[in-house]
Amino acid sequence: MNVLVAYYSKTGATEKVALALEKAFGEGNTVTVFRIRPEHELKAHEYRKSEKDLPLQKPLPSLKDFDLVIVGTPVWGFCPTPIVVSYLRQLQGAKGKRFALFATCTALPGTTIMRLSNILSTKGATVVDTLTIRSIFELDAEKLKPVQGFAQRLLKEP
Ligand SMILES: Cc1cc2nc3c(=O)[nH]c(=O)nc-3n(C[C@H](O)[C@H](O)[C@H](O)COP(=O)(O)O)c2cc1C
Repeated sequence: MNVLVAYYSKTGATEKVALALEKAFGEGNTVTVFRIRPEHELKAHEYRKSEKDLPLQKPLPSLKDFDLVIVGTPVWGFCPTPIVVSYLRQLQGAKGKRFALFATCTALPGTTIMRLSNILSTKGATVVDTLTIRSIFELDAEKLKPVQGFAQRLLKEP
């Protein structure tokens, strides 16, 4: 399977999940890990929650050759970061693609996954699975365990 893992991370937790996913897919699959970057990196509280079309650093990887696209975000104010919302809104070629979503947060993910799923459904993409990892501490091997099952489920999906 040819998999794209695209994520934004401010303080490293979401990146840890992205890298754990890369490992979990293991041999026999090709995983491209792509860090979404805004053109102008701000402090988290300086982004406006309503911002939906932030300029992002280009190029964004073309989705053409990927069988599965996994998108990850930290939760900010019970919502996905405006950076990941902007990424999904700018994404070309999502129609008919299989997506999976993941979020990291301390406790309360709110409407994060639902908001990202809604953007993808308006683009004609299918969200086949989602994962939310909650932790108030730095993510360790124990907290990252569900990533393994997530990858296994995705590999089994038709
Ligand atoms: C501005 C801001 C808002 C946040 N809002 C929430 C929230 O609503 N619910 C929650 O559980 N965690 C919230 N968090 C915690 C982050 O979601 C959590 O630490 C996340 O794993 C950080 O990911 P990162 O290290 O990849 O940036 C917030 C963090 C920041 C900086």
